[in-house]
Amino acid sequence: MDKPVIAPSLLAADFADMGSALRRVETSGARWLHLDVMDGRFVPNLSFGPKMVADLRRRSSLFFDVHLMTVEPESLVDSFIEAGADAITFHLEACVHAHRLTERIRAAGKLAGVSIVPSTPVAALEELLPYVDLVLVMSVNPGFGGQKFIASSMGKLSALKELRAKRNLRYIIEVDGGVSASNAAEILAAGADALVMGSAFFASEDPAMLARSIQG
Ligand code: DX5
Ligand code: ZN
Repeated sequence: MDKPVIAPSLLAADFADMGSALRRVETSGARWLHLDVMDGRFVPNLSFGPKMVADLRRRSSLFFDVHLMTVEPESLVDSFIEAGADAITFHLEACVHAHRLTERIRAAGKLAGVSIVPSTPVAALEELLPYVDLVLVMSVNPGFGGQKFIASSMGKLSALKELRAKRNLRYIIEVDGGVSASNAAEILAAGADALVMGSAFFASEDPAMLARSIQG
């Protein structure tokens, strides 16, 4: 990825007013929209399903970055592909046949992403890295917005950047959880290409300036 992107997460929006939330993201100049799907099993919270993605898709040409925090992601990817996702990221911890799933997502012409929770080491991704388009490093325990960035995630970003160069791979490095204007520069310097931002983006008084500070 040539230039970094901000991926505002709708999880922090007012769910009774998604139209305004989408406009806020669009007018900020952000190029990505992060869509957090939670099933109440992989994480102790529920969010929304493919209908939300499909309804937003009709109103937006942003890059739709779908993050599945669900068990059995293989049973859901088709409906999110149909709904208009551009990238689908599932959790390594939730899927035994991760390689089969990334190949399925890629065969549909979408970017295939894999995510790891804070307690999973980068080493667990070793075999899968050549087959993914995106690696999502969770810098909080997934399930809720507004949590504190876990400092050890920085090392994971630089490790992934180093591995990418060493093995001549091309995946996007994305980070999710506790990202704000105050730590964004350090996170970019550590190696992230895409910064998910939920509460900090929706609380910002100047989202356009925030997006510019990351995307340039
Ligand atoms: C957390 C979600 C995140 C969340 C981030 O489980 O995956 O995408 O929206 O929210 P903030 O930026 O508030 O930590
Ligand atoms: Zn997320």
